[in-house]
Amino acid sequence: MKKIKKAVIPAAGLGTRFLPATKAMPKEMLPILDKPTIQYIVEEAIESGIEDIIIVTGKGKRAIEDHFDRAIELENNLIEKQKLNLLEKVQRSSNVEIHYIRQKEPRGLGHAVWCARNFIGNEPFAVLLGDDIVKAETPCLLQLINQYEQTLSSVIGVQTVPVEHTHRYGIIAPINNEGRRYKVDRFVEKPEPGTEPSQLAIMGRYVFTPEIFKLLESQKAGSGGEIQLTDAIQSLNAIQRVFAYDFEGTRYDVGEKLGYIQTTIEFALQHSELKNDLVEFLKLLLEKNAVKAENFQ
Ligand code: UTP
Repeated sequence: MKKIKKAVIPAAGLGTRFLPATKAMPKEMLPILDKPTIQYIVEEAIESGIEDIIIVTGKGKRAIEDHFDRAIELENNLIEKQKLNLLEKVQRSSNVEIHYIRQKEPRGLGHAVWCARNFIGNEPFAVLLGDDIVKAETPCLLQLINQYEQTLSSVIGVQTVPVEHTHRYGIIAPINNEGRRYKVDRFVEKPEPGTEPSQLAIMGRYVFTPEIFKLLESQKAGSGGEIQLTDAIQSLNAIQRVFAYDFEGTRYDVGEKLGYIQTTIEFALQHSELKNDLVEFLKLLLEKNAVKAENFQ
């Protein structure tokens, strides 16, 4: 069995939901507290045993490469000022290799993954999206890799979402399940409200066999005029079993504004230095707004 050692992180999208912030700055560099979202994703990959990461970038994404590069001047400055705790934060400690490839135009997530085909070659690999951060005892990707090792099949991470949100996601139509692992009949990208086959939504963590590349190559544009990864997964499921796995852990949706704000607040409430002051601030804020609301009645 080939071990999963390589991961693709697509980061070439336009990030239109965060415009104008993302006009000149990649969405993947938006911070949750003091870390860019993409760093949380890279850390999950490393904790899951990944040794080589390829980040698919595009126009205006240089900041991602700079972030994972060494910043010698900054490091020297921090050494001079004896700010050693900060030095630790900017130095990369892990031995993981990060590589980059450009998607020349944002033709969709499926196309972004396809751009990594030469780097991956003929072996199973992982894909992680930066829109979802997952906090879990066993890293989310590692849970999927464990499933791959049991089944030797592609495995897609899913979690239940409220029925009114299903139209925003790829949704699975399950056949049956063994614990948290589902056999799947269909993978449907963004179903029309009322047509969703379940509430189990695809969450941005995948393990694929290399056969996915051939299918992506011939994949026609789907929902939104983009080459959709979900459509290729559906085709893959027709020739070899693709499982869905309802992973354990809390998933934070940082790909849209409300989820981003909620995640920031929740992470701050879990931060020892910020927690108490933030709680006080939120209490005052709620009181102030309650008084305002009363005055309006
Ligand atoms: P999204 O659709 O969430 O990202 O794609 P987006 O297109 O950048 O965001 P909005 O919808 O305009 O706000 C999920 C992931 O796939 C990458 C994105 O960078 C994001 O991390 N992606 C998407 C690509 O790499 N290439 C694409 O053509 C599309």
